Amino acid sequence: SSFCVCMGGGGIIGKVTPIIKITNCPNNIRKRVPQTQFAEMFLHSIPVLQWAKHFSPVEYQRLSHYGGAHGWGSVILNSSLAILNTPANRLMFDDWENGAHRSECIRCAVVGNGGILNGSRKGKEIDEHDYVFRVNGAALTGFENDVGSRTSFYTFSTNTMRNSMRSYARCLLLTISYFCLSPSVDYILMKAASTHTAIDQGPERSKNPPTYFGEDVTVEKFKIYHPDFIRYLRNRFLHSNLLKTGARRIYRPSTGAVMLLAAIHTCDQVDAYGFMTPDYTLYSDHYYDKQRRAVRFFANHDMRMEMRLWQELHNAGLINLFMRQ
Ligand SMILES: *[C@@H]1O[C@H](CO)[C@@H](O)[C@H](O)[C@H]1NC(C)=O
Ligand SMILES: *[C@@H]1O[C@H](CO)[C@@H](O)[C@H](O)[C@H]1NC(C)=O
Repeated sequence: SSFCVCMGGGGIIGKVTPIIKITNCPNNIRKRVPQTQFAEMFLHSIPVLQWAKHFSPVEYQRLSHYGGAHGWGSVILNSSLAILNTPANRLMFDDWENGAHRSECIRCAVVGNGGILNGSRKGKEIDEHDYVFRVNGAALTGFENDVGSRTSFYTFSTNTMRNSMRSYARCLLLTISYFCLSPSVDYILMKAASTHTAIDQGPERSKNPPTYFGEDVTVEKFKIYHPDFIRYLRNRFLHSNLLKTGARRIYRPSTGAVMLLAAIHTCDQVDAYGFMTPDYTLYSDHYYDKQRRAVRFFANHDMRMEMRLWQELHNAGLINLFMRQ
């Protein structure tokens, strides 16, 4: 098989440092997986996030073989990854013990942008979760009744970030973009923004720190998906037929899919809203569209395969997917 995670390689991943928050939740997703058809696919020790400790010459060698979001090939990353050295960079729910949350289980609402949310009145329910995940382009103002108003994690790739500021989110979850001329741009921007320094190299070089992420960004705000996690999702959960076509070099799971699967690998319970359902032709592309328009499909994603996966995960009892019929 083409799949290789090489967990032993660097000797660091998943051994010294726990990568998920262990709670007393009696019946969480990880405990239910073995009774489902996903038992063989799930790797409980896969690193979801990458941070400073992942960098070593051996890891560099291994991950240089993969480009874009799938590795460190063609990425100027050494000094950028080194700044991700706080507990917030390492753990998805680093603030769980702070006492803000009283439930036994980490309950996550993962909110896509699907038109199915228009008129859903799910806002209150979404906001009542411990953590709320949102994705690229999510609009809240005026849509609170349907989608809620809290954001714990805002998941994006920097090429979709250019026009918006997301400083209200507690945390920024970065999927390194695949379409950028150079994926290095993401790492360089992240470093410049969180250290409030100039963008010292690349096409966006400037004298001032970037402002897309808000003015008050600190390194604690950034969590970056591990390239092993992205390849694992592509190879095991979303191994699309596109991989047999000319589109294989650009194919990858959508940002929304990475977000939902990351939640499934870290939360105790996941409720998913605004993800594509088999009746998608009944809804607009996004809940915030000014005019109704059909769902658009892109060559680098396999949205129908993702839709089938959400149905399977829902039917297996691993997530609760919001559907209208
Ligand atoms: C990054 O680190 C690797 C391994 O230590 C090294 O071979 C490479 O030259 C470094 N690249 C840069 C741009 O510093
Ligand atoms: C949202 O729902 C309202 C009420 O049903 C409808 O008038 C509007 O066209 C919908 N918006 C979109 C983008 O579908």
